[in-house]
Order: sequence, then C-alpha cells, then structure tokens
Amino acid sequence: MDKILVTGGLGFIGSHTVVELQNEGFEVVIIDNLSNSSIDVLEGITAISVKSPIFEKLDLKNKQSVQNFFSTYKDIKGVIHFAASKAVGESVQEPLMYYENNLNTLIYLLQELTVKSNSNFIFSSSCTVYGQADEMPITENAPIKPAESPYGNTKQIGEEIIKDTCKVQPNLNAIALRYFNPIGAHPTAKIGELPIGVPQNLVPFITQTGAGLRDELSVFGDDYPTPDGTCIRDYIHVVDLAKAHVVALKRLLNKKNKINFETFNIGTGVGSSVLEVINSFKRVSNKSLNYQIADRREGDVVSAYADTTKANTELGWKAQSTLDEAMLSAWKWEQQIRDL
Ligand code: WQD
Repeated sequence: MDKILVTGGLGFIGSHTVVELQNEGFEVVIIDNLSNSSIDVLEGITAISVKSPIFEKLDLKNKQSVQNFFSTYKDIKGVIHFAASKAVGESVQEPLMYYENNLNTLIYLLQELTVKSNSNFIFSSSCTVYGQADEMPITENAPIKPAESPYGNTKQIGEEIIKDTCKVQPNLNAIALRYFNPIGAHPTAKIGELPIGVPQNLVPFITQTGAGLRDELSVFGDDYPTPDGTCIRDYIHVVDLAKAHVVALKRLLNKKNKINFETFNIGTGVGSSVLEVINSFKRVSNKSLNYQIADRREGDVVSAYADTTKANTELGWKAQSTLDEAMLSAWKWEQQIRDL
C-alpha cells in the first residue's frame, strides 16, 4: 500500500490522522521534532491501529535533514504537512520563530516534492485566513482578510506559496484543508489533545476545569452581537477532521488530471457559542462548571462557522459527530490522562 509522510504526526490532529491512514491500509512515516508533542503518542497510535508507523525524529527547519529524508525514502506517495507552531498569542510575541518554523519548513518540503514525479501534498490550513468573515456560514470564496496574527499570516502565506508553486510545477498536486475548531479525542481515549502549560483553547480549558486542575474558566466576553453575547465557533470532532485528510489524500492519489491547488473548509457547518459549549460539557459530564465572565480576548472574531457544501459535494466528506459527542470524547480523554 502507498507510503505516506505525515509531518507533525505525533501532534493532536496528526496523530489522529495517522490512525485513520493506518486503518485504511496506508503505510505511514512520521516526522516530528517533539518540540510540541510526546514520543508516548506513538504507543497510543500503535495500540489503536495495531500497527506501528515508522518514526523519524527530525527538524524540518534543517534543510539538509529534509533532503536526506527524501533520499532515503524515495517511495513517498503523499505528504500531509501538520508540523507547524500554532499558538496565536505566542506568534504575536515570537513572529520570527513562527515565520521560520512555519514557512521555511514548508519551502524545504516543496523543494523536494517538485523534483519527484506526481507529488501529492495536503496542507494544514485554518479558518483564521478569513479573519472576521462578512457572511456566515463561511464559504471557500470568502475574501482572505489581513491576518490578525503572525500565526494566521503563516497560513495565508503558506497557501500562496503552494498555489504559486503548483502553477509552474507540473508534478505538484495540492489541497489545503482549512480547519475550523478541532476538539475531542479518539474514542478509545488512547490519544487526544495534550496542551502544554495553561490551555489557550476553550475545550481543553473546560475539561481541565472539570477535572479540578483549573479553578474556573474565564469566558472572554459576553457582550458580543450574538444570541447569548458570547463568540460563536464551529467545533469539529478531531476524528472527523482526521478522516477528511484521508478522503483528500485519496482524491489526490486517484486523480485523473492534475490538481493545482484546492481549498476546503473542514467544519461541521454548525456554530456554537461559548456558553453552548459549556452547557454541552455539563450535559455529557453531568458536572457543573465554574466560570466567570471576563474581558474580551484581543484578536477574537465574533463568529466563524463553515459552509461545508464544497467538502460535502466535491470531496465527498461530511462531519459525523455532534458537539456533545466530541465533548464527551474530550472529557473521557481528560479523565483517562488524569486517572480520574
Ligand atoms: C474559542 C472561543 C474564545 C479560551 C484558535 C486558533 C485557530 C485554531 C483553533 C489552530 C473564543 C473563547 C477560549 C478560554 C474563552 N488553532 N475562550 N475562554 O481562538 O477560535 O481558534 O484555535 O489552528 O487558528 O485561532 O479557539 O478555543 O482559543 O477559542 O472564552 O479560556 O472560546 O474567546 O471565543 P479560536 P479557542
């Protein structure tokens, strides 16, 4: 079966995607530099899919290492590129680290792929490229707004780099998946989200508060122009997101003609407010949750949820899990890692 490179394959979305790829019979090679992941995730992946991916500890910022990798692994049929820094707030403080880590690595990978015949590349992009979109739900044709952070800018520039390269490189076929808000964990609770330090994202903060690791959740503003005053997002189960990568990969592998550069919004199509997410946690955990209303967070958009028509019709993919199902998987994972 085809051998697929997954960069950042020990990360949150990467690890769940490796499981789905192995379940589909693909042979997987993971590159990860372990800067934001744990080698223990390899054990979880193997336990779930009863198959061990090949693992190469390698920093994609090292151009020679990337060249050596592709000299060794000449039979890579597709690349799914997750490896990147992804903390919005951190990117504001460390812009050069973000531009180097998220863009140099992409360029070095593409330089190797363009010399191979028939390269297939999937790029981990984000709904942040839309900024605060003018219309909801958000389609792939929504205008790309000036990025609100260096992180978001690396996703926009990354897409441009791939698009420009595909135009002039007959060997390169590429798809960018624009994620909305990935949450949850594998139903076996053997892999999940492992935020380092204080979680920046809502759902891990909620489950850590539910587990007693945090005293209370701060809800960043309840005076937004939304039904309950809190921000709206499209929370998608990470396994649904992982499956979207397998579908996109197969689209590239089975293509009849060159695929220059396609983008797909990967969400559920359903918007949920912060308070609705809190209520989801209460329902599935049967616990209360300490929270208080705090000031708005700089850079937050009011609302972002996907129009999934293109992914449903052209990609043939649709999210299956509800918010409660995703939240329950997140809570089960939290309980598992805390031995609750
Ligand atoms: C969701 C909502 C917060 C924490 C970010 C990145 C995006 C992607 C997903 C990488 C917002 C509110 C949060 C808290 C809160 N990451 N919130 N209290 O900001 O939509 O997206 O993560 O690809 O690129 O931008 O996700 O989970 O941080 O916030 O009230 O303690 O929850 O204000 O409205 P976000 P988030």
